[in-house]
Amino acid sequence: MVKREQWGSRIGLILAVAGNAIGLGNFLRFPVQAADHGGGAFMIPYMISLILLGIPLLWIEWALGRFGSKKGHGTAVAVFDYLWKNPVAKYIGLLGVLIPLAVVVYYTYIESWTLLYSFFSLIGKLPSTPVTENVSDYLKPFSHFLVEKTGQDASGLFLTPALETYIFFVITLLINLYILYRGVSAGIEKVAKYAMPLIFVMAIILMIRVFTLSSPDGRNFLDGLGFLWNPDFSALTNPKVWLAAAGQVFFTLSVGFGAILTYASYIKPKDDIALNGLAGASVNEFAEVILGGSIAIVASVIFFGIPATAMIASNGAFNLGFMALPAIFANIPYGEFFSFLWFLLLFFAGVTSSIALCQPAIAFLEDELGFSRQKSVLALGIFLFIAAHIPIFIKGALDEIDFWVGTFGLVVFALFEAVIFFWIYNSKEAWKELTRDNDIKIPYFFYYIMKYIAPGLLIIILISWSIEMLPSQLTKTDPGAWIGRIFIVILTIIGFLLIKAAWGNRNGRTHT
Ligand code: PHE
Ligand code: NA
Repeated sequence: MVKREQWGSRIGLILAVAGNAIGLGNFLRFPVQAADHGGGAFMIPYMISLILLGIPLLWIEWALGRFGSKKGHGTAVAVFDYLWKNPVAKYIGLLGVLIPLAVVVYYTYIESWTLLYSFFSLIGKLPSTPVTENVSDYLKPFSHFLVEKTGQDASGLFLTPALETYIFFVITLLINLYILYRGVSAGIEKVAKYAMPLIFVMAIILMIRVFTLSSPDGRNFLDGLGFLWNPDFSALTNPKVWLAAAGQVFFTLSVGFGAILTYASYIKPKDDIALNGLAGASVNEFAEVILGGSIAIVASVIFFGIPATAMIASNGAFNLGFMALPAIFANIPYGEFFSFLWFLLLFFAGVTSSIALCQPAIAFLEDELGFSRQKSVLALGIFLFIAAHIPIFIKGALDEIDFWVGTFGLVVFALFEAVIFFWIYNSKEAWKELTRDNDIKIPYFFYYIMKYIAPGLLIIILISWSIEMLPSQLTKTDPGAWIGRIFIVILTIIGFLLIKAAWGNRNGRTHT
């Protein structure tokens, strides 16, 4: 068997893992979720989810990945097959390849908007906007710009994005594929070494700029910070806020996708996972609540006030980052420069995450089907290019795919990770595997969290989602939703066939 790749250094590994976690989720999704759920009301469920679900499941995923590195496999397909002697295990493990693969199809598309926006800021082609009291007039040029670039104003089934949007998507895809083609250490790790420090520098410059803004009627950054950090305990009784907080914790930590498992499979079999996992999570949380929480929301509260900020967030996932913030920057000195920094920051954060979303598919092709890296990247590139036409051109498909894989699927997969490791395999052995060879000791109460509390909470989350969201999701009959569903089904069939092919060969080999 070919020798699997490995990370070059510990600092490189931590930066790559931080790059995996820190993404559009930190700077675009978090502010919208927080603003949409009452700011201070969001943060308590968020912190509790982090401790009871995020960190324990993150360690589980790291442990599964390190277990895989011992065996020379980098996806849940093979890892589940080792842990659970049942032929279905590997098909369940396929979730850890298909979820990131389906997510990256639209993630790279949104990432490509950030590249387009940073380019347009640089050449001074973002709209200008009048300074007015009326928030929707203030935002109008920017909402037109987004709608025009992404073609969302089309009336039928098909979106009509601008040509430059398509071109920037192709460029973004090629950048991703090139990094993957260079490999784990010379590609992913090296990019993280440059991109991560830059992300922090850019975010801190933007944060300082936002903190020195004030509105004519006297609002300043303290109003923005107060919105997020004044605890509002009344929200604790609202299940929607809990679901949103847990969903954000999963998304931002990259937990429940399979992408952490794959990155962890490139460490040495006796390397630490406890400190590495915690370090990655800490850096991500700093980037999320400190940096991500201090740019778009704070600027919007200063300029538009709290009620309008909540309204902007509730109108769409991209409105804070692609409309409110650039509209604010459009009316400050050197605003193009700050817009440029903002979108470049998003692009760097996006790239270091999208390559992480791609790597499970690469690892699957390499480890299970014996593809070379070049061949794996080529296959992935062809697939992504074709598949991306669905979110780019089909109205409603992105949301449908995002619901099934990006919201529902990852909770299901996280539940399987915990249950297969701690219930089907063996909880004592799982704990031993998790706590061996680490540089810090994982406190023993995490054993109970991992075995009982986290899976229990995941089941509660799945049940409440099923009650709350499935009925309206399943009754959607627009063609876009159907195309999204068919896409997921086709993807699953392809995955099954590839596993059959891989394991068929394997049995053939052992018989001869
Ligand atoms: N954590 C990333 C973000 O915050 C998203 C992501 C999920 C990246 C899973 C890789 C794997 O944007
Ligand atoms: Na993140």
